[in-house]
Amino acid sequence: MNKFSNDLINNFPEYLFNEINQKKISARHSGKDIIDLGYGNPDLPTHDKVVEKLIETAKIKKNHKYSVSKGIYGLREAISRKYENNYQVNLDPNFNVVNTIGSKEGLTHLLMSVLNPGDKVVVQDPSYPIHHFAPLIARAETIKINCLNESDFLMQLVQTLKKTKIKLLLISFPHNPTTLTVDQVFYDNLIELAEKYNFLIVNDFAYSDIYFGGNKPPSLLSSDKSLSHSIELYSLTKGFSMAGWRVGFAVGNKDAISSVTKLKSYIDYGTFQPIQIASTVALNELEEYPFELSSVYKERRELIVDNLEDLNFSVQESTATMFVWAKLPEKFRNDSLKFSLELLEKSNVAISPGVGFGKYGEGYIRIALVENKQRIRQAMKNIKAAL
Ligand SMILES: Cc1ncc(COP(=O)(O)O)c(C=O)c1O
Repeated sequence: MNKFSNDLINNFPEYLFNEINQKKISARHSGKDIIDLGYGNPDLPTHDKVVEKLIETAKIKKNHKYSVSKGIYGLREAISRKYENNYQVNLDPNFNVVNTIGSKEGLTHLLMSVLNPGDKVVVQDPSYPIHHFAPLIARAETIKINCLNESDFLMQLVQTLKKTKIKLLLISFPHNPTTLTVDQVFYDNLIELAEKYNFLIVNDFAYSDIYFGGNKPPSLLSSDKSLSHSIELYSLTKGFSMAGWRVGFAVGNKDAISSVTKLKSYIDYGTFQPIQIASTVALNELEEYPFELSSVYKERRELIVDNLEDLNFSVQESTATMFVWAKLPEKFRNDSLKFSLELLEKSNVAISPGVGFGKYGEGYIRIALVENKQRIRQAMKNIKAAL
């Protein structure tokens, strides 16, 4: 118990991945070469052109001043153009777009600005941890729905809506950790429900640009052309390998965008302007770069999938994200945390236990494709020897 922490923060559980992280750190300190496939931190570089633009614009003194909290117009225009070209969605840069400090910050402040205490939010389980916690930070209540299968998810959502008034549905496709993707019809169905039951849908679209084989993940906004019930969080983190730059957007419904823009205007002065300018270059001039990155992830994925199948793991098929999601063989299925800790000890390979993403993730593991092929081959060899 921390006496200078409020009840909300005091009651947040210890981050489940901490135990693995601690073990990873002490193993490294003792000289072990840990192959880290646990943390979804992209290892591929940001494009040179973006880095060069940052350097060039950082030398211009007027760029050292406060920027604008909602993002410079050129950046908001660039994301609007991308939505027009890729998803045939018409965004007004002045009303339907706000620049965020990555999608994680954007999501949390969005929820703080649209929810009232006690409002109910449907969240996918398993899911990226902030999806469980952002509604709680906004003092709302969460209803968790098992999302290991998209059609069951939809069915359970309908059951919930018949019984309970919700304010917001929080989803993320392509999905971390399960790697599931959905089609446009799935979103059409959700929008129909949002209109009928009057709630806002927020889609965390962090993996929009990491996909293979031409299967472009659709945008939720394409199913809601009037933008009456939807918001999407777009990010440069994965698609452009710009994790540390912290550049994302909330786009969509103008009332929700206006609320989060207002909240952010009280809290921040916007991202450092050279970062915004360099990000504009990424969006306007480097459309092909996400394809290059995706093809690297695809090759890494294939390498891991082949090896895991030899070991009787049942791997979720997927054409998107930078992860492999797999069901553990029967004998390990009831404790993914114990499995992951033991694997780290015996094989020097770090992975994420499914239970860290929510109770329905138990029995699964997530492997992040963030080491090169040579290291992945080594990891697979170590795992085979350990099991
Ligand atoms: C679903 C999901 N949303 C958001 C993020 C964080 O993205 P950002 O760097 O844009 O905050 C991640 C990162 O792993 C993620 O998996």
